[in-house]
Amino acid sequence: MFEIKEINAENKKELYTRINVYLKGLICEDSDWLAGISNACALLNLTLPDINWVGFYLWKGNELVLGPFQGKPACIRIGPGKGVCGTAAAQRKIQVVEDVDKFPGHIACDSASRSEIVVPVIKNGRLLGVLDIDSPVKARFDEQDAAGLSEFVDILNMYLEWSDIFV
Ligand code: SME
Repeated sequence: MFEIKEINAENKKELYTRINVYLKGLICEDSDWLAGISNACALLNLTLPDINWVGFYLWKGNELVLGPFQGKPACIRIGPGKGVCGTAAAQRKIQVVEDVDKFPGHIACDSASRSEIVVPVIKNGRLLGVLDIDSPVKARFDEQDAAGLSEFVDILNMYLEWSDIFV
Protein backbone atom coordinates (compact mmCIF):
# COMPACT_ATOMS: atom_id res chain seq x y z
CA MET A 1 0.00 0.00 0.00
CA PHE A 2 1.21 3.48 -0.82
CA GLU A 3 0.21 6.08 1.77
CA ILE A 4 -0.11 9.64 0.52
CA LYS A 5 -0.35 12.08 3.38
CA GLU A 6 -2.01 15.45 2.94
CA ILE A 7 0.55 18.02 1.84
CA ASN A 8 0.51 21.27 3.80
CA ALA A 9 3.00 23.22 1.75
CA GLU A 10 3.80 26.88 2.33
CA ASN A 11 3.94 27.66 -1.37
CA LYS A 12 3.55 26.07 -4.80
CA LYS A 13 7.27 25.42 -5.21
CA GLU A 14 7.34 23.34 -2.05
CA LEU A 15 4.05 21.64 -2.99
CA TYR A 16 5.42 20.46 -6.33
CA THR A 17 8.74 19.43 -4.81
CA ARG A 18 6.84 17.14 -2.46
CA ILE A 19 4.40 15.89 -5.11
CA ASN A 20 7.32 15.02 -7.35
CA VAL A 21 9.01 13.05 -4.55
CA TYR A 22 5.76 11.07 -4.14
CA LEU A 23 5.63 10.52 -7.90
CA LYS A 24 9.11 9.01 -7.99
CA GLY A 25 8.12 6.69 -5.14
CA LEU A 26 5.01 5.61 -7.06
CA ILE A 27 6.64 4.82 -10.39
CA CYS A 28 10.31 4.07 -9.75
CA GLU A 29 9.88 0.33 -9.28
CA ASP A 30 7.65 -0.47 -12.24
CA SER A 31 7.94 1.06 -15.71
CA ASP A 32 4.48 0.04 -16.98
CA TRP A 33 3.31 3.34 -18.52
CA LEU A 34 -0.45 2.81 -18.24
CA ALA A 35 -0.22 1.90 -14.56
CA GLY A 36 2.22 4.76 -14.02
CA ILE A 37 0.13 7.52 -15.58
CA SER A 38 -3.01 6.17 -13.86
CA ASN A 39 -1.32 6.47 -10.48
CA ALA A 40 0.07 9.87 -11.51
CA CYS A 41 -3.52 11.11 -12.02
CA ALA A 42 -4.60 9.77 -8.66
CA LEU A 43 -1.63 11.48 -7.01
CA LEU A 44 -2.42 14.89 -8.55
CA ASN A 45 -6.11 14.51 -7.71
CA LEU A 46 -5.27 13.86 -4.06
CA THR A 47 -2.67 16.57 -3.64
CA LEU A 48 -3.58 19.57 -5.86
CA PRO A 49 -6.09 21.94 -4.26
CA ASP A 50 -8.96 23.45 -6.27
CA ILE A 51 -9.08 21.11 -9.24
CA ASN A 52 -12.08 19.29 -10.70
CA TRP A 53 -10.47 17.20 -13.46
CA VAL A 54 -7.02 15.75 -14.09
CA GLY A 55 -6.02 13.32 -16.78
CA PHE A 56 -4.09 12.39 -19.86
CA TYR A 57 -5.01 12.53 -23.52
CA LEU A 58 -2.79 10.23 -25.57
CA TRP A 59 -1.59 10.91 -29.11
CA LYS A 60 -2.99 8.14 -31.28
CA GLY A 61 -2.65 8.29 -35.07
CA ASN A 62 -3.37 11.95 -35.74
CA GLU A 63 -5.47 12.96 -32.75
CA LEU A 64 -5.63 12.94 -28.95
CA VAL A 65 -7.65 10.16 -27.34
CA LEU A 66 -8.82 10.15 -23.71
CA GLY A 67 -6.56 8.21 -21.35
CA PRO A 68 -6.49 7.68 -17.57
CA PHE A 69 -8.15 10.48 -15.61
CA GLN A 70 -9.98 11.44 -12.41
CA GLY A 71 -13.12 13.54 -12.64
CA LYS A 72 -16.30 13.55 -14.68
CA PRO A 73 -16.50 11.57 -17.93
CA ALA A 74 -14.91 13.65 -20.69
CA CYS A 75 -14.87 13.98 -24.46
CA ILE A 76 -13.00 11.11 -26.10
CA ARG A 77 -11.21 12.56 -29.17
CA ILE A 78 -9.58 15.96 -29.68
CA GLY A 79 -7.98 16.92 -33.00
CA PRO A 80 -4.66 18.78 -33.26
CA GLY A 81 -5.21 22.50 -32.82
CA LYS A 82 -8.65 21.96 -31.25
CA GLY A 83 -9.39 23.22 -27.75
CA VAL A 84 -6.70 23.81 -25.16
CA CYS A 85 -5.41 20.23 -25.38
CA GLY A 86 -5.16 20.18 -29.17
CA THR A 87 -3.42 23.57 -29.11
CA ALA A 88 -0.83 22.30 -26.59
CA ALA A 89 -0.28 19.22 -28.78
CA ALA A 90 0.01 21.17 -32.05
CA GLN A 91 2.29 23.86 -30.62
CA ARG A 92 4.10 21.45 -28.27
CA LYS A 93 3.85 24.20 -25.69
CA ILE A 94 2.33 24.41 -22.21
CA GLN A 95 -1.00 26.27 -22.20
CA VAL A 96 -1.97 28.21 -19.07
CA VAL A 97 -5.55 29.44 -19.48
CA GLU A 98 -6.74 31.90 -16.83
CA ASP A 99 -10.32 31.98 -18.11
CA VAL A 100 -11.56 29.14 -20.29
CA ASP A 101 -14.46 31.27 -21.53
CA LYS A 102 -11.92 33.57 -23.19
CA PHE A 103 -9.98 30.77 -24.93
CA PRO A 104 -11.28 30.50 -28.51
CA GLY A 105 -12.45 26.95 -29.20
CA HIS A 106 -12.19 25.77 -25.60
CA ILE A 107 -13.88 22.36 -25.29
CA ALA A 108 -16.08 22.22 -22.18
CA CYS A 109 -16.12 18.74 -20.66
CA ASP A 110 -17.15 19.81 -17.17
CA SER A 111 -19.23 23.00 -16.93
CA ALA A 112 -17.62 23.71 -13.53
CA SER A 113 -14.20 24.34 -15.16
CA ARG A 114 -13.08 28.00 -15.12
CA SER A 115 -9.34 27.71 -15.75
CA GLU A 116 -7.02 25.07 -17.17
CA ILE A 117 -3.41 24.02 -17.69
CA VAL A 118 -2.22 21.58 -20.35
CA VAL A 119 1.33 20.19 -20.44
CA PRO A 120 2.51 18.29 -23.52
CA VAL A 121 4.29 14.98 -22.93
CA ILE A 122 7.20 14.74 -25.35
CA LYS A 123 9.86 12.03 -25.22
CA ASN A 124 12.86 11.96 -27.54
CA GLY A 125 11.15 14.51 -29.76
CA ARG A 126 7.97 12.44 -30.06
CA LEU A 127 4.60 13.72 -28.83
CA LEU A 128 3.03 11.06 -26.59
CA GLY A 129 0.07 13.06 -25.31
CA VAL A 130 -0.85 15.83 -22.90
CA LEU A 131 -1.54 16.18 -19.20
CA ASP A 132 -4.70 18.26 -18.69
CA ILE A 133 -5.87 19.79 -15.40
CA ASP A 134 -9.07 21.83 -14.90
CA SER A 135 -10.06 24.05 -11.99
CA PRO A 136 -13.38 25.54 -10.89
CA VAL A 137 -11.41 28.66 -9.86
CA LYS A 138 -10.45 31.37 -12.38
CA ALA A 139 -6.70 31.91 -12.86
CA ARG A 140 -5.91 28.87 -10.69
CA PHE A 141 -2.73 28.05 -12.64
CA ASP A 142 0.41 30.12 -13.20
CA GLU A 143 4.05 29.81 -14.17
CA GLN A 144 4.85 27.97 -10.94
CA ASP A 145 2.30 25.29 -11.80
CA ALA A 146 3.78 25.12 -15.29
CA ALA A 147 7.28 24.62 -13.84
CA GLY A 148 6.18 22.03 -11.25
CA LEU A 149 4.11 20.05 -13.74
CA SER A 150 6.89 20.15 -16.36
CA GLU A 151 9.12 18.48 -13.83
CA PHE A 152 6.30 16.02 -13.05
CA VAL A 153 6.08 15.06 -16.75
CA ASP A 154 9.90 14.83 -17.00
CA ILE A 155 9.84 12.28 -14.16
CA LEU A 156 7.16 10.24 -15.97
CA ASN A 157 9.33 10.27 -19.08
CA MET A 158 12.40 9.28 -17.10
CA TYR A 159 10.86 6.20 -15.46
CA LEU A 160 8.10 4.89 -17.73
CA GLU A 161 8.49 2.76 -20.86
CA TRP A 162 5.86 4.33 -23.11
CA SER A 163 4.31 1.69 -25.31
CA ASP A 164 4.40 1.99 -29.09
CA ILE A 165 0.74 0.99 -29.42
CA PHE A 166 -0.18 4.62 -29.91
CA VAL A 167 2.09 5.20 -32.91
N1 SME B 1 -11.00 21.62 -22.00
C1 SME B 1 -10.23 20.73 -22.85
C2 SME B 1 -10.98 19.46 -23.15
C3 SME B 1 -10.72 18.37 -22.19
S1 SME B 1 -11.56 18.54 -20.72
O1 SME B 1 -11.18 19.78 -20.06
C4 SME B 1 -11.31 17.25 -19.75
C5 SME B 1 -9.86 21.44 -24.13
O2 SME B 1 -10.34 22.55 -24.40
O3 SME B 1 -9.06 20.88 -24.88
